[in-house]
Amino acid sequence: MVSNRDEPAMLRSLLFVPGNRPDMLEKALGLAPDALVPDLEDSVPPAEKAKARDIVASFLPRLAQVGIAVIPRANPASTGLLEDDLAALVGPDILGITVGKIGDASDLGRVEVHVERLEAEAGIEKGRVRLVPWIETARAIVNAYEICSASPRVVAVAFGAEDFTNDMEIERTEDALEIVYPRQVVGVAARAAGVLALDTPWVAFRDSDGLRRDARAARGFGFRGKFAIHPSQIGPINEAFAPTEAELEYARRVISAFEEAEESGSGATSLDGKMIDIPVVRRARGLLELASRSVAPRE
Ligand code: COA
Ligand code: MG
Repeated sequence: MVSNRDEPAMLRSLLFVPGNRPDMLEKALGLAPDALVPDLEDSVPPAEKAKARDIVASFLPRLAQVGIAVIPRANPASTGLLEDDLAALVGPDILGITVGKIGDASDLGRVEVHVERLEAEAGIEKGRVRLVPWIETARAIVNAYEICSASPRVVAVAFGAEDFTNDMEIERTEDALEIVYPRQVVGVAARAAGVLALDTPWVAFRDSDGLRRDARAARGFGFRGKFAIHPSQIGPINEAFAPTEAELEYARRVISAFEEAEESGSGATSLDGKMIDIPVVRRARGLLELASRSVAPRE
């Protein structure tokens, strides 16, 4: 039996599906992102919130059967919807819950209290439901490490560029300079806390070259995955977060140059005019390890 119980091997692509769209949820059953994110927050208009909650709850067992991690998105506590959302979502069919607009550890604590109670009520193991907070306000950027390390339930954090720039009252631009700093903060904070950093969606969903460039840029800031809003984004995102063949070839050459040097008794050596020392070799091994991990069906 395929189960959501295990941590997915990777979270490169996470596909949002608006919770008020049974047609899209149905479609999602046949797609293969690393995670599915049925959304109750900003893709659902206020008048449809309750309906979306019921639709998503009724789809969870079927989504879980597909064998892909399911991480539904709940509305933040400030909306007054969080408790009802969690009551509908927490159960054996999800890997975790993602929650928008977490500003500090106490916001996450409020989520956790309900999750813990609901786990007990559902008779599932305490701590099993993971959390993925959205860091998407100026306050959250200032508190990024606090949020990343607020609970052992946190396995990843998400950076949301649209809400962040909205909160800052600044524009999104072509060169994305306005999100360089927050992306760096989230990448570093996530790494320091030992959780995965997940990047904001690329909203121009017909522009796959732009998506590829944007995902590569995010990878360069330490992000390990990215949200998708359209099925066509899954492939380019998975590719962007996997090492390229050229990177792998170089990593193999680094390792063999280093091993040769080690055999002849020296530590540092060089390859193509660049110094090869222990951190460089570690990175090369890490890259090969990343490439060897698979998201193929988890039995
Ligand atoms: N999940 C599942 N299926 C999706 C999908 C998604 N996120 N986005 C599109 N599809 C489906 C469509 O329903 C359509 O199915 P069909 O061929 O059976 O009719 C097919 O994929 C092709 O879609 P397309 O016509 O190219 O796009 P669209 O105009 O129907 O939808 C969006 C475009 C942006 C409205 C839609 O992709 C969407 O709602 N995305 C999610 C938005 C979201 O969740 N935002 C919140 C996070 S920021
Ligand atoms: Mg948001």
